[in-house]
Amino acid sequence: MIQFNCKNVSSNIIGEDNGLDLECEFNNYGDTIKRIITDLNQRKDKPGQWLQWMNLGYNEETLWYVKEYASIVQGRFENILVLGIGGSALGGMALSEALLPPYWNLLSEEQREGLPRIFFMDNIDPDSMSAMLDMLDLSKTLVNVITKSGDTAETMSQFLIIKDRLEKELGDNYRYNIVATTDRRTGVLRQIAEQEGYKTFVVPDDVGGRFSVFSAVGLLPLALVGIDIDEIINGIKDMDLELKNTNIRDNMAAQNALIHYLLDTRKSKNMSVMMPYSSRLKYISDWYVQLWAESLGKNKDRNGNNVNIGQTPIKSLGVTDQHSQIQLYNEGPNNKVITFIRVKEFDKTLNIPQIFEYTGIGYLGGKSINYLINAEADSTRVALADYKRPTVTITIDKINGYNLGQLLYMFEIQTAIAGELYNIDAFNQPGVEQAKNYTYALMGRAGYEDSANSLNEKIAAV
Ligand code: PA5
Repeated sequence: MIQFNCKNVSSNIIGEDNGLDLECEFNNYGDTIKRIITDLNQRKDKPGQWLQWMNLGYNEETLWYVKEYASIVQGRFENILVLGIGGSALGGMALSEALLPPYWNLLSEEQREGLPRIFFMDNIDPDSMSAMLDMLDLSKTLVNVITKSGDTAETMSQFLIIKDRLEKELGDNYRYNIVATTDRRTGVLRQIAEQEGYKTFVVPDDVGGRFSVFSAVGLLPLALVGIDIDEIINGIKDMDLELKNTNIRDNMAAQNALIHYLLDTRKSKNMSVMMPYSSRLKYISDWYVQLWAESLGKNKDRNGNNVNIGQTPIKSLGVTDQHSQIQLYNEGPNNKVITFIRVKEFDKTLNIPQIFEYTGIGYLGGKSINYLINAEADSTRVALADYKRPTVTITIDKINGYNLGQLLYMFEIQTAIAGELYNIDAFNQPGVEQAKNYTYALMGRAGYEDSANSLNEKIAAV
């Protein structure tokens, strides 16, 4: 199992102004946490609760269909191109970056053992989109278009451009180069997919985008590039069992949720920094940022009170950002809680040769880069504690599907519990919908005319 260490949140270490008396808080909140976990597990199967993501580890059918399709198309495509944004892209991006060998897309076909390269088009920048389309041989590319709503302007405009190009190049057969992942029944993409005869996968009901990584949304792109998705699922299942424990002392998701909640509401730590010490885990931070921001950043609580709450999540990378952000984290406003992710054993060991021993860098020789990266993580953690800054540390033995399944699922449960502690709905995103609707209005979508007129006035005014 992954390990969780929250000692550096304790007031014994960082003082009462910034830290927590964890023993006392675990006692105070023990019953609340018990109630929240019991309640989440009771509600998870009920329609409309948006908790179906808690069942994704047990969805054998999806797992089977994903693996079957991946094996059918294996060897047919040089590239996988994922079209999607937000929750429809970030999970697949984070896990493929972590689980594929680094620089996968630069490896030769032989080095990739015939498996395809993978690209995520998660923005609508015209320059980078054009460059990607010029670079990829579309006839040898499988396009996985992912959108739960089936009508997100960014994803659907990408789809329209690529469908048009594919059809011009391949004629009627273009449809075999598209696989759509979308809602079972509703949305424009579902309608088009059925009309055109695309292969489709389902974003299950009551699973929001940012909680969809373990559905076909995340699993299909991973399986298409040969990642062992069974291993990921095993990790989720084991973590799920662990996190069903209603005793806060044995439940790391509950502990971390409570710590973040209390540090925010009592100690003014309104920012949550995610800092993995591994380049392969870089996009785990992007995924976490969306999860934490969209789930907890809310203006109303469940009773309709104005609350405007939510910690601002920040992505950071160890050790790179020690040389960019740590000065601020140590000496700037004491308003952050930092989560370190440490990897015990990297896949490779890189030794530093004993040369230039007579110079000031002689001490490096004979050590390994592996030792150095973790020594820097420890030093930064201790320095932050010296400055009375709270940190928690999550340690994973190795970067593999099992451990990352555990890690991401743990963060999902942590987010759901934090939502309950804040007494907000962690599963809606009215603030995102508002901007989406404005975009529809500006782009002239039918039904949004009134909003377009007032919007143009607002734009002119600001
Ligand atoms: O978490 C969410 O719900 C959002 O980030 C969505 O994933 C994002 O807006 C994309 O939506 P859709 O999948 O409907 O295209």
